[in-house]
Amino acid sequence: MKDWKLYQDLKPELLVNSDELKQRVAEMGRQIAQDYQGEPIVAVCILKGAAIFFSDLIREIDLPMSIDFMAISSYGSSTKSSGVVRINKDLDKDITGKHVLVVEDIIDSGLTLSFLRENLLTRGAKSIKICTLLDKPDRRKVDLKVDYKGFVIPDEFVVGYGLDYAEKYRNLPDIGVLRPEIYAK
Ligand code: IMP
Ligand code: MG
Repeated sequence: MKDWKLYQDLKPELLVNSDELKQRVAEMGRQIAQDYQGEPIVAVCILKGAAIFFSDLIREIDLPMSIDFMAISSYGSSTKSSGVVRINKDLDKDITGKHVLVVEDIIDSGLTLSFLRENLLTRGAKSIKICTLLDKPDRRKVDLKVDYKGFVIPDEFVVGYGLDYAEKYRNLPDIGVLRPEIYAK
């Protein structure tokens, strides 16, 4: 762990450290390559939270691929999502007939991704799979099939490795639990 001041806002025990992240991301990449059996895919990064995970993950996937980006915001308080979703940046390229792998940072209620899955299906994708680094199943509000998950975590608010609180902490190399007094302020 780096000797950074930013870590003072986290609980002392890290949830997932950078070595564990690297190892798990490599495993996920191997599994994905194996499952698609050489078929080309479009890997879609959900900005901004998944950006760090995405850039590490795609370099572990031995498949022909193109990449694309989407930015979505769901209205709600800063630590909870409401399920009302808006597309702030859409895909650049048409996905008709393509195998789409959606890469997300964390699934909480599942509302964001269930909206997105429906939306992408209406565009005629050949298949849609969902890959998330973190899963908080305790808070699921909708039934959502998650094809790949890195780590199942308890119901706590986490930051780092792309995940933010109010746009802060995305650059932390590890994932930790934000001290509740930071978001209670
Ligand atoms: P869902 O629609 O409730 O599944 O919300 C998923 C989105 O909420 C993620 O893409 C994150 O942006 C955000 N989110 C949920 N839990 C956390 C967390 O613990 N830390 C940071 N962001 C989170
Ligand atoms: Mg996000």
